[in-house]
Amino acid sequence: MSGARAGRLVLITSWLAAACTSRSPVPDATPSAPASSATVPEHAAWLLDGGVEDRFVRVAKHLRGFDVAMAETGYRHGELYWAGRDENWGYASYQVEKIETAVANGTERRPKRAASARMLEGALERVKEAIARRDAGAFDAAFTKLTATCNACHVSERVPFIHVVAPRVRLSPVVAAHAHDGGGP
Ligand code: HEC
Repeated sequence: MSGARAGRLVLITSWLAAACTSRSPVPDATPSAPASSATVPEHAAWLLDGGVEDRFVRVAKHLRGFDVAMAETGYRHGELYWAGRDENWGYASYQVEKIETAVANGTERRPKRAASARMLEGALERVKEAIARRDAGAFDAAFTKLTATCNACHVSERVPFIHVVAPRVRLSPVVAAHAHDGGGP
């Protein structure tokens, strides 16, 4: 190795070492960042310890991957079913939007799932059309197709043991406004 290259290497490694040990490597970008561990509240230390990069890595870890998007989607899929049963079309439409958001955020976090996730688009479109027409029969058919699509993706993404079905027991905390007296609980 030439003297100049070795010198550059020393420079880079010492810069890296400084960056890794510094508490706030980008102080201007985080004006409110505590200057030292002494000012970090104990309950926030798990998040605020280290530099900016370390903190973002920790936040990313806690945001989780596709699993949390799917746990949310599973819940919303169940709610969507009861919304259709109740002909509560506003709530049904709301749940479709939230499924789209959950899946979009999930694929942003785990891009390797994005190609398979596209199979959901047509199935959700069909549900939306049934909702727009307020057609309970079309909704049932579209919901069945949607559920089959969820499972098709589980097979192609190698989690075939996650086989979802329409809910068998009603746990939904939401009822259609026209299904109760509009008064108390
Ligand atoms: C990208 C294709 C894909 C689509 C589309 C998809 N899933 Fe998933 N699902 C997965 C993968 C992959 C996992 C495993 C998550 C992980 O750990 O990465 C999963 C996991 C799940 C889980 C278990 C979540 C947990 O951790 O408890 C449920 C429930 C679920 N999916 C429901 C659904 C429902 C309902 C739909 C349809 C509305 C759906 N999924 C559509 C790929 C998909």
